[in-house]
Amino acid sequence: MVELAPSILSADFAHLAERVQAAADGGGTVVHVDVMDGHFVPNLTVGPPIVKSLRKFTKLPLDCHLMIENPDQFIPEFASAGADWISVHQEACVHLDRTLHLIKSHDCLAGVVINPATPVDTLSEVLDIVDYVLVMSVNPGFGAQAFIPGSVHKIRQLDEIRAQRRLNYRIEVDGGIAVDTIPDVVRAGAEILVAGNAVFGHGDPRSNAQRLLKAASEATLQRV
Ligand code: DX5
Ligand code: ZN
Repeated sequence: MVELAPSILSADFAHLAERVQAAADGGGTVVHVDVMDGHFVPNLTVGPPIVKSLRKFTKLPLDCHLMIENPDQFIPEFASAGADWISVHQEACVHLDRTLHLIKSHDCLAGVVINPATPVDTLSEVLDIVDYVLVMSVNPGFGAQAFIPGSVHKIRQLDEIRAQRRLNYRIEVDGGIAVDTIPDVVRAGAEILVAGNAVFGHGDPRSNAQRLLKAASEATLQRV
């Protein structure tokens, strides 16, 4: 089943609880939290206090996407704030295997993320450790950017490797996800769709989420 993970990056933070609830009412089942440090990516966002607040008002899994240097330093804090899933960038981790095990040692699902310019091959030694792989379909740092079509073949490659090696990781995609890009990513094998602008950027998050999930379920039927 394809899941929708609304990204709070594009939500109105003054009404965060209400907006997240609306997206959940529309069918969102994972809350995606973008953490940026101003070093790994050229933007600053939120940290553990926001995760702690979100934890108080939602039972949905909190998916923390760490776009930060030296993630090992902050993983324990995110876990104790209530993160359920934590993902780290392949490009930010010198000791990626150690970092993924650190996430798991805190009883969180461990994900690895790749930027648009990073090949899937760079993950071959960790695919049997991770719970999910997050394919960036924009360069990380900002919401509402245009989808990079070259990401689709990386999703397909991850889907094929998973079948060949009989692995169980899930495939998540993040960046420029909207009604027009969903068919290609879902048909390629993406199962968790992160969407910020398409859910919170305009209109009602509830009906936006419903529309995105409808596009996803139609594309699922077209998967061979
Ligand atoms: C980008 C973030 C995304 C962002 C996606 O660096 O990782 O999660 O919120 O936003 P949209 O869906 O607007 O492209
Ligand atoms: Zn993200």
